[in-house]
Amino acid sequence: MKKDIAKILLTREEIGEKVKDLANQIKGAYEGKNPLILCILKGSLIFTADLVRELDFPCTIDFMQVSSYGAGAETTGELRIKKDMDTDIRGRSVIIVEDILDSGITLSNLIPELESRGAESVAVCVLLNKPERRRVEVKPNFVGFDIENEFAVGYGLDYNEKYRNLPYVGVLKREIYEK
Ligand code: IMP
Ligand code: MG
Repeated sequence: MKKDIAKILLTREEIGEKVKDLANQIKGAYEGKNPLILCILKGSLIFTADLVRELDFPCTIDFMQVSSYGAGAETTGELRIKKDMDTDIRGRSVIIVEDILDSGITLSNLIPELESRGAESVAVCVLLNKPERRRVEVKPNFVGFDIENEFAVGYGLDYNEKYRNLPYVGVLKREIYEK
């Protein structure tokens, strides 16, 4: 896997520090509210696992796998739920945990879905943010790192389902995704 990585963007240590920092911010805003930490599969698996272990107050955890279908150059598509959570979120404070915010299409479709299910509030926590790529406005409440418009893999992020198990975030060599 290593030979496919052009450069390391974020080391394990840098990510670890940032995860603690994010957990502190979340604690300040959510302690005592028993928030639902909603891990968006599969990319946020590792980020969520690290984040929740830094949250030293009661919260619950659930999972969804979603994508947007019909999303093209001119459309933002519709939410496609591949796996749903089983938590009843009526009256709950939900924190969506995502690996990366790119065009914003996925989250811009997911947030209203959770609001329509009766969540008291819906917030977004992303490890990585690519502001340059935004097509739909989504304002994340908690952001780990703003990154350039490069293809990131590792720490949960994949290219064709590969590289999720790298312990750091790296940039994939162009030749890998352009071949
Ligand atoms: P959005 O709807 O365009 O914001 O899509 C976000 C999703 O696209 C993420 O959850 C990732 O699955 C995927 N994605 C976007 N950029 C990258 C990247 O640089 N590396 C890996 N996956 C990415
Ligand atoms: Mg993903």
